Amino acid sequence: MKKLRLLFVFLIVSVTAFAGEGMWIPMLLQYNEKEMQEMGMRITADDIYSINHSSLKDAIVLFGGGCTGEIVSDYGLLLTNHHCGYDYIQKHSSVEHDYLTDGFWAMDRSQELPCPGLSVIFLREMRDVTDQVLYQVTDDMTEAKRQANISENMKRIIAEVEKETSYKVSIKPFFLGNQYYLLLNEVYTDVRLVGCPPSNIGKFGGDTDNWVWPRHTGDFSVFRVYAGKDGHPADYSADNVPYKPAKHLEISLKGADEGDFAFVFGYPARTSEYLPAIAVDQEANVIDPIAVDLRGQILDIYNQYQEQDKKVRIQYASKHAGLGNGWKKWMGVIEGINHFHGVEKKQAYEKTFMDWCNASRQRHAYIGLLRAFEKQYKALEPYRVAYTYMTNAGLNIELIEFAGSFGRLAQVTKETPQEDIDKMVAALKNATKAFFKDYYQPIDEAVAKRMLSEYLKQPVDFRPSFLNDIKDVDAFVAQLFQKSMFVSEDKVNAFLDGFKASKAKKLQKDPALKAYQSLIDFYRNEVNPKMAPINKEIDSLQRLYMRGQMLMEPERRFSPDANFTLRVTYGKVEGFKPQDGKQYRHFTTLEGIMEKENPDIYDYVVEPKLKELYRKKDYGRYADKDGTMHVAFTASVHTTGGNSGSPILNADGQLLGLNFDRCWEGTMSDLVYDPAICRNISVDIRYVLFIIDKFAGAKHLVDEMTIAE
Ligand code: ARG
Ligand code: GLU
Repeated sequence: MKKLRLLFVFLIVSVTAFAGEGMWIPMLLQYNEKEMQEMGMRITADDIYSINHSSLKDAIVLFGGGCTGEIVSDYGLLLTNHHCGYDYIQKHSSVEHDYLTDGFWAMDRSQELPCPGLSVIFLREMRDVTDQVLYQVTDDMTEAKRQANISENMKRIIAEVEKETSYKVSIKPFFLGNQYYLLLNEVYTDVRLVGCPPSNIGKFGGDTDNWVWPRHTGDFSVFRVYAGKDGHPADYSADNVPYKPAKHLEISLKGADEGDFAFVFGYPARTSEYLPAIAVDQEANVIDPIAVDLRGQILDIYNQYQEQDKKVRIQYASKHAGLGNGWKKWMGVIEGINHFHGVEKKQAYEKTFMDWCNASRQRHAYIGLLRAFEKQYKALEPYRVAYTYMTNAGLNIELIEFAGSFGRLAQVTKETPQEDIDKMVAALKNATKAFFKDYYQPIDEAVAKRMLSEYLKQPVDFRPSFLNDIKDVDAFVAQLFQKSMFVSEDKVNAFLDGFKASKAKKLQKDPALKAYQSLIDFYRNEVNPKMAPINKEIDSLQRLYMRGQMLMEPERRFSPDANFTLRVTYGKVEGFKPQDGKQYRHFTTLEGIMEKENPDIYDYVVEPKLKELYRKKDYGRYADKDGTMHVAFTASVHTTGGNSGSPILNADGQLLGLNFDRCWEGTMSDLVYDPAICRNISVDIRYVLFIIDKFAGAKHLVDEMTIAE
């Protein structure tokens, strides 16, 4: 008997979340407070999230819909990553004003650059609405009925709350549909670019070092949030004033030592920690390898052309970074899952789960789960493959993708009001200008040839019909680029001038638009109708599986998968052992930049000014106590995409740095977290301030911040 109890205790201890694992809901942080304080935290859960007084959460934003940013002054000054601001920096860049290469610094507020389309979102409050959302939802309902009830309930709740607030109201599912939270958000749309370092600082190491430690990237950019005179959100206007936050982050110049407590506060996008083994296996061994292969081929082509021409290099910089990022990450996932036995670990867990199911009649509902997963994932696989080809081998042909944006115009008829048509045309003219600014036809033709050749290897039933007309890929591509008007800005504009419904026919005949249409039809008629019901089924299995896991381990603190809501994750500043015999230190320094310097390799060019500062050791108050300039550091904090730009904070809630990446060896942490090798990477805030102050001479920005020395 005693033995049994001991075993039980052991089980509970071993399944409690590892320090480091978990993305916690800020409003429930009181449940983690004790552990956080035991790890060294000196503030309270209430200092981090409160709706009764200002708290750290008031300084955190969802930046541009995909990253995190934080407010660091009373005048709306915001820090995020260079790669998060990249699109906006790139849009303001040309060969004459090459802010990507040279950096940009507004020396006063009048020089700050508006960024149309960029917004930041503040979370004002969140509420648990699980009971209301699941009102009259029962276990024996069909999935369709369940969804219908839930969306009815949600609509009603949102409408009620909207009556009492001017904030944006939404509801999101957590724990795969076992819980629901309501979010009150405020969206600011006047956000301006204040500064960014040159790419050989902000993107130092480029795609070569991306996802890799040791790292030396000064991955930061500076923006400012503006508000109307009343402090409320307002669209861009010269009369707007800097946003005054309820709280801005204090900055620590002390750095962090190995073992120090640290936490990240931000917007992780998506994790899937509770999948069955078969799903992890499919991801790492079927889907990711296809995407890696296709994207790798496209990137080879980009590289070849980008090396030859400065203009092309700028034009394809952002596209390259976008494709390259997933490509490399997925390689890490494949490697990590296989090397660290992610699938086997899940299988072992499933065995425990099955034993638990079999131990009691009451767990009957869970017994068939794993077999059902097996069946559904097998059925899903060919469609996931088809989808992966469609997005990677089809839609990465820019001509086809661009033509697709004219799809709606191609559908207009005599009945469509001319006013609507004119609006569409105006929007398309803008899109056309933006497209051709960054389009280089030889690249696209080469990509088209390579991708269509790959696509043709897919079984006929799993690819779009336009491929069936291809006898010779080279000839097909040559024809496509000859006949389509979408290769020429002049042709497109001439066509759009004075557009009438009668011209829609001509548009429908364009071969690039036809190819796009064929891709979309294939998705709409073949892939989605098959995939959607399977995914629905998987969702409901997954919901049940989640509930089963929670019942099986009642003592475990579960953290819900990331879903682009604000989360706190915590761990320690620490290095790791990537391989037997190898040990990584937790920080890098400016020395490492000098070691990597290579004037012949674009990613490793070092600015003369930076070298000069290094030579003179002119680090001012930003040097570490060891006398060197620290550049980046690693910690065992569970992060994912979307956490880019998130603040990493110390035990007192002061800013230590900006999270910008993970170590490649641990990118599988989206599926399986392993505390031994999963590390996030941040740029040291002292390096950020050093660059702003000493390198760029923009000390006025540092003066706005609150610095704790
Ligand atoms: N890997 C980081 C992330 O997932 C940084 C990406 C941007 N940097 C780059 N070199 N492409 O977003
Ligand atoms: N660079 C990622 C981002 O943009 C964060 C790195 C990660 O995936 O952990 O969100």
